[in-house]
Amino acid sequence: MILAAGEGKRMKSALPKVLHPLLGRTLVGHVLAAAQEAVGGAVTVVVGHGGELVRAHLEQVAPEAVPVTQIERRGTGHAVRIALDETPGLAAGLTGTVVVLNGDIPLLRAETLSALIHTHESTKAAATVLTAEVADPTGLGRIVRNRGGEFAAIVEERDATPAQRAIREINSGAYVFDAERLREMLGKLSTDNDQGEEYLTDVIGLLAAAGAPIVAHRAPDATETLGANDRAELAGLRAIMRDRINDEWMRDGVAIIDPATTWIDVTVTLGRDAVVEPNTHLRGATRVGEGAVVGPDTTLVDVVVGDGATVVRTHALSSEIGPQASVGPFAYLRPGTRLGRKSKIGTFVETKAATVGDGAKVPHLSYVGDAEIGEGTNIGAATVFVNYDGVQKRRSVIGAHARTGADNMFVAPVHVGDGAYTAAGSVITKDVPPGALGVSRAPQRNIEGWVERKRPGTAAAQAARDAHTREENHVTPASVADVGPRDEQ
Ligand code: UD1
Ligand code: CA
Repeated sequence: MILAAGEGKRMKSALPKVLHPLLGRTLVGHVLAAAQEAVGGAVTVVVGHGGELVRAHLEQVAPEAVPVTQIERRGTGHAVRIALDETPGLAAGLTGTVVVLNGDIPLLRAETLSALIHTHESTKAAATVLTAEVADPTGLGRIVRNRGGEFAAIVEERDATPAQRAIREINSGAYVFDAERLREMLGKLSTDNDQGEEYLTDVIGLLAAAGAPIVAHRAPDATETLGANDRAELAGLRAIMRDRINDEWMRDGVAIIDPATTWIDVTVTLGRDAVVEPNTHLRGATRVGEGAVVGPDTTLVDVVVGDGATVVRTHALSSEIGPQASVGPFAYLRPGTRLGRKSKIGTFVETKAATVGDGAKVPHLSYVGDAEIGEGTNIGAATVFVNYDGVQKRRSVIGAHARTGADNMFVAPVHVGDGAYTAAGSVITKDVPPGALGVSRAPQRNIEGWVERKRPGTAAAQAARDAHTREENHVTPASVADVGPRDEQ
């Protein structure tokens, strides 16, 4: 069971707290992922405030999870009671092991959860609590032990005595219960506390008082138990998770040059010897191949980067970059871009719904939208695929091994055949057959003496006059420059 009905007032957000993003998943998404990995089986999620948004999110990320609504937020114990009563199939006598997780502890590892469950089952405890020893326990429930060091109760900070507040062993909000003992004690919870709520933590005190065996399982890494109540704390969790993810990839053979400025979602994968340069964000379903170089200053969202490709100062979304391809610096790949093996997208180039063949190149200053470029073709600098007539978008196709001139407009739909050329500055509105040269340019006309007549007295007119004078005297600017200090050296 995952408890996610809280509003998270201190986030000051229209979004329920558990839906805030943290490197590839929402807060509750991380808890769900850990639960699914460690426990599997049925998951009930208690939703409340912003319930519709949380339900819609669960539908996306964990359609098998069962949402149960807690209308009035009357405490963590109340939430678990509702989950037990309203999950279809649980109402009638659930037995065995129940795992309960607060929805706001996203750094909890699946291995830690597995160990917690293992401890619970191997000790035959009635309840097992994941605890941690922290430097600053402010705001958290304290683990209170009796003189013999045995678990006595969990006391919330606001209900604690000064002596209890000094305790630094805290309740993480992850628990394992024997289902029957849990149900029995949920029925006995009071609201006699500072918040007037039914505390789940009191189940443990009641069990301990009844002499049932309670086990405290210490988290190996206290940061796993951290929660976030406001955005500053959330940023703190994000930095911890960033470091954890980066450390794992470095141990797996990825070179991360500046881990402090590298943000990799948990959902991303990287191959060995991949290099991630500083200021790089790898998000969503991004996969980086072996030996690829990504960054600096690059953001990839749902992008596949082939082995040995290079992607420099680039922003790319839902695209595929082929092996050994080269992208950037300063490229923008929009959804539906597919770049072939050893292809090149150069500087100040934008692509969208574009297929670029193996070895094909779009090196400079171009827009390639709704287009297909054949293998081995070179697109001239400053080319625009004119895909939009103001109403409709259409595709253009350039064949294989074509050479298109600089500053071309391909007005879609247009087809340039294999091996064809186009002349610089052409506006191509008609198909160019294979092997032909497509030209569409007005012939050039020079109007002699225009500047001196129409712009007299300007520097341009003076320069033109000087040039004419030199021409008349058969002096070239180069021969003027040759007579100079160089001779003295
Ligand atoms: C809780 C624990 C505290 C522990 C801390 C760890 C209790 C009484 N206290 O305190 O001992 O140290 O977590 O982070 O449990 N929720 C519901 N319905 C409710 C109330 C809460 O679904 O009626 C959910 C919240 O969305 C949240 C979780 O339960 O995900 C914990 O609730 P929260 O209010 O954050 O409890 P804490 O005060 O943090
Ligand atoms: Ca909390």
